[in-house]
Amino acid sequence: MKIVTIVGARPQFVKAAAVSNLLRKEHMEILVHTGQHYDAAMSDIFFDELGIPAPDINLRIGSGEQGAQTGAMLGAIEAVLLDRKPDAVLVYGDTNSTLAGALAASKFQIPIAHVEAGLRSFNRAMPEEINRVLTDHLATWLFAPSETSRDNLAREGITSGVHVVGDIMLDSVNLFRQRAAVVSTFPGCLGHAPGGFYLCTIHRAENTLDRVSLVNIFSALNNLSKPVVLPLHPRTRRALETFGLSAGSNVTVIDPVGYLDMLQLAQAAACILTDSGGLQKEAYYLGTPCVTLRTETEWVETVTAGWNIVAGTDPQIIVSAVEHLSAGLPQRQPIYGDGTTAERVVSILASKGE
Ligand code: UD1
Repeated sequence: MKIVTIVGARPQFVKAAAVSNLLRKEHMEILVHTGQHYDAAMSDIFFDELGIPAPDINLRIGSGEQGAQTGAMLGAIEAVLLDRKPDAVLVYGDTNSTLAGALAASKFQIPIAHVEAGLRSFNRAMPEEINRVLTDHLATWLFAPSETSRDNLAREGITSGVHVVGDIMLDSVNLFRQRAAVVSTFPGCLGHAPGGFYLCTIHRAENTLDRVSLVNIFSALNNLSKPVVLPLHPRTRRALETFGLSAGSNVTVIDPVGYLDMLQLAQAAACILTDSGGLQKEAYYLGTPCVTLRTETEWVETVTAGWNIVAGTDPQIIVSAVEHLSAGLPQRQPIYGDGTTAERVVSILASKGE
């Protein structure tokens, strides 16, 4: 098949790193980068260090309000589809690039493959939740990571084309963790020993647009018993400037890091505090407990497994959650498959199975 794959934001580069090279053995892939993430530290480094094929087309859409950004992508992707006439469009996850790709394809009745289908936070205030729900309702192949996501889809009436294939990010962790251990200089270059620091990331709109949430999160970070390393997303950097906030003396702010450095930091941290979806799972795969700085999670199996606590932004709850997880952790079980998700996706697409 001729497949147009749409990527645009950091987590999609990590997922494409596990899929694209395999996909190209069976199919012809045209890789389209929307340009949603465009800084070298947010985009180029992922292509360079993960061996992702260079994008065939870069739409250079860049930043914008939700509607303007998604709309600009929609028009530009439509032009690509008209020109290239693919047999299928492959999208990942829940970003504005995901929705724009799915919507553009749907208007031409081009079948859509959605990797990471069926995830739900049940919070429609999140742009990502809207993106996932709509993409799932447009997709032909729904590659779900777990039975929970299959059930979520069934509750919305989607039962055909659903394949539970595990989590593509486990493939990525397995592919790159050894290289990360060899090439990354973290956490030693920051003066931290493994287990001697906490790792934090914050970028979700619900936290970065709200001054009180940010104040609370940073209050918690400054009340933890170990120093905190915070690779700062540009959105969050701007929010701190806008609200006139500083990170505080317990927090070492660094620029966004590439995937290999992130794996190394995540593996070496005593605990991860994050509002990211992907990092909650990476924490689990790497054997690091996680405190989620949101009021809900899509990755409920990590919570049931006892390795992730959904703490919200209350400083006391965050600090107690970190302490609780430091006191001991259960055995880890495989909760999102066995790391062969990319193979499964490619072979299901090759068989044109629904
Ligand atoms: C997006 C996704 C989110 C994903 C995250 C990973 C949506 C709605 N959200 O959020 O699901 O988890 O990516 O990082 O699609 N910016 C830069 N440089 C960049 C990229 C962004 O400065 O390279 C700034 C821009 O000013 C922009 C802001 O960050 O306004 C937010 O960018 P946006 O494209 O909305 O995505 P994220 O917040 O990163």
